[in-house]
Amino acid sequence: MNTKDIFVSVQEVARQREYCRLASELLSRRFDHTPKAYVHTYGCQGNVSDSERMKGMLHEMGFSFCEQPEQADLVLFNTCAVREHAEARVFGNVGALKPIKEAKNHNMIIVLCGCMMQQEHIAEKIRRSYSYVNLVFGTFAVHRFPELLYRHLRENKRIFDVKEEDGKIAEGFPVWRDRSFKAWLPIMYGCNNFCSYCIVPYVRGRERSRLPDQILAEAKELIANGAKEITLLGQNVNSYGKTPDCGLNFSGLIRQINALDGDFIIRFMTSHPKDCSVELLQTMASCEKVERHLHLPVQCGSDRVLREMNRGYTADDYLRLCKKAYELMPDLAITSDIIVGFPGETREDFDKTLDLVRRVRFSSLFTFIYSPRKGTRAAAMPDPIDAKVKGEWFRELCFVQEEIAAEHSKALVGKTFRALIESENDGVLTGRTSQNLCIGVPGDQSLVGTFAYVTVTNAGNWTLSGKLADE
Ligand code: 5AD
Ligand code: SF4
Repeated sequence: MNTKDIFVSVQEVARQREYCRLASELLSRRFDHTPKAYVHTYGCQGNVSDSERMKGMLHEMGFSFCEQPEQADLVLFNTCAVREHAEARVFGNVGALKPIKEAKNHNMIIVLCGCMMQQEHIAEKIRRSYSYVNLVFGTFAVHRFPELLYRHLRENKRIFDVKEEDGKIAEGFPVWRDRSFKAWLPIMYGCNNFCSYCIVPYVRGRERSRLPDQILAEAKELIANGAKEITLLGQNVNSYGKTPDCGLNFSGLIRQINALDGDFIIRFMTSHPKDCSVELLQTMASCEKVERHLHLPVQCGSDRVLREMNRGYTADDYLRLCKKAYELMPDLAITSDIIVGFPGETREDFDKTLDLVRRVRFSSLFTFIYSPRKGTRAAAMPDPIDAKVKGEWFRELCFVQEEIAAEHSKALVGKTFRALIESENDGVLTGRTSQNLCIGVPGDQSLVGTFAYVTVTNAGNWTLSGKLADE
């Protein structure tokens, strides 16, 4: 791939920023007040990060932000397509905007974007059945948002930009972050893996990496602005640096970020087990700023199903990897994603998943019932298992994991951890340990956004509680 096919040109970014200025002129004519935008994000941190970039554009167009759609002049939903449930929620919430728009604000601009909109059949449904939606664009058009909004304002008509193209990286737009101490830092976009159940490669396009200089410059800026935690984001961070050839792999990038000055911690997601190298584990172990948490989605414990899923590893490969990781980092917490009820999965296959879960002893699990996604290979596979049976397996898996998590938690009582304090509610602080475990401790609001030492005094099934330690 040629770099001009990967990156949006500097001239194009400048052109879009000029559209921000033009849009802000039209907006000031339309509204007699500072226009307010309500942005709601569905789905993963990648989407949260995209929303921060779109909020940066909205801010440049003169918007301030509000917490309720009822107060908004512009409502933007950044949508997720990963499961049917996520899509159903979006449709429900878009439906709920209609009476608000009719009763409160006829001028309300409704914008739908993100993964769901990149699918033709969804955009078509919006076009046909949701006539009050004004602007629709997919993930590939994010950098054209200013131009699209300007066109909507000037021409006063509905705009759809959902064509299939190669997704490109756009640098140089401002980013609007809601929290300064916890930051998302995208390092790559897209995915080349085509796991047979997954819609992501279709709606987010081919894998492409940001250049190290851009990432390091953003990391430095974040640290200078008070970031205490930086989470590196990508669908498959382990293949960072391949397209374009960045002369640096993911481990190298981590080492460079780790070497930056400042008291901050590094997290990353998501790692694909097939590309998770021993070098990466060694890098995690040797970089003092990298936290002791590895999110490593296994999806299933049966080799037959893993093959059908096109995952590129066996259950044994996965177990070996976890063993190596625990050897190098005895205090490591491994978390995972598991799909229950993949087409053709049998009880025997599912038992292998339970077995793997018991052997790895994850600190926590994200469990999903398989959801067919139009256009993926798995959606065309025969799926004879009853939804009721899948539901039972799902509950069984959650039960097994709950027991493991409870044992993990009990073993932590009496131990002291450094935690980043994230929030305060009624005199109770919520902190996150290196292992990404949440702990509640009584304490003062002024500690939010700082590191504190906490001692675990009590372990419930889901939550830890404790007290501030002296260290
Ligand atoms: N059905 C259910 N779960 C899915 N995931 C991705 N696609 C699907 C699907 N079609 C899950 C995977 C992935 C996580 C982000 O979402 O477990 O790791
Ligand atoms: Fe989907 Fe697989 Fe890519 Fe993850 S690695 S985004 S599950 S295709």
